[in-house]
Amino acid sequence: MRIETLSVFPQMFEGPMDASIIGRARRMSKLEFAAHDLRDWTHDRHRSTDDEPFGGGQGQLMKVEPVFEALDDLLADEPAQVLFFTPVGETFTQSIAQQLAREQRLVMVCGRYEGFDERVYTRADRCISLGDYVLTGGELAAMVVTDAVCRLLPGVLGDELSNIEESFHGNLLEYPQYTRPASYRGLSVPEVLLSGDHAKIAAWRRRQSIIRTARLRPDLLPDAELSEQEWDLVRACRRDLADEATSIERSDCER
Ligand code: ADE
Repeated sequence: MRIETLSVFPQMFEGPMDASIIGRARRMSKLEFAAHDLRDWTHDRHRSTDDEPFGGGQGQLMKVEPVFEALDDLLADEPAQVLFFTPVGETFTQSIAQQLAREQRLVMVCGRYEGFDERVYTRADRCISLGDYVLTGGELAAMVVTDAVCRLLPGVLGDELSNIEESFHGNLLEYPQYTRPASYRGLSVPEVLLSGDHAKIAAWRRRQSIIRTARLRPDLLPDAELSEQEWDLVRACRRDLADEATSIERSDCER
């Protein structure tokens, strides 16, 4: 896969794109990466990429022409899926990461200031937000998406299983994991994990995933594939949570 970014701070990508799994994926030629400088597509002395908003208002907007010209050049010879980063986009999820990992080439356009001139979005295949908060620019969002996509590329992670059995697979959170020592400062590893009984361990992990998801991310459950028995477990967790809330309310009232 090839990932390219277009931004006024291409130097921000140095370091994060060289280290760890992404660095290794690049060295193994599983991932090609290039950070383009949007200022290379400006024509004025100051290499301006921003201007004041029509109609007035706070701050500066990213101009339309450099983005259009850059995309004309970058897409001239080879197609790509064009992503824009903006808090107004669809929220990034593991499922989007999986869809993007199937593409041959991604061009990620990163804004700064108060956002882009709206006309740039006519060039977008997808607008992505990292979440309901405002970053100073799209570069960090592009790095997050590159990281999440890169680790899904075939051959990038040594153990292909680690892609399957992880949080959000099947819309469930990952089960708790432990390593040595079996007991530390009075904190013990659940007995079942030391039993060597693989069927029992698999059943315990599945149950823990469901309990965790029901408690921490119930919003994921409607899309999870659960058996009737597992839905009973979800309902039991919901009752537990409701009971906890009632008991907290009760003890507050008794004070
Ligand atoms: N640019 C500014 N805020 C952002 C966000 N939350 N997600 C993606 N890009 C952004």
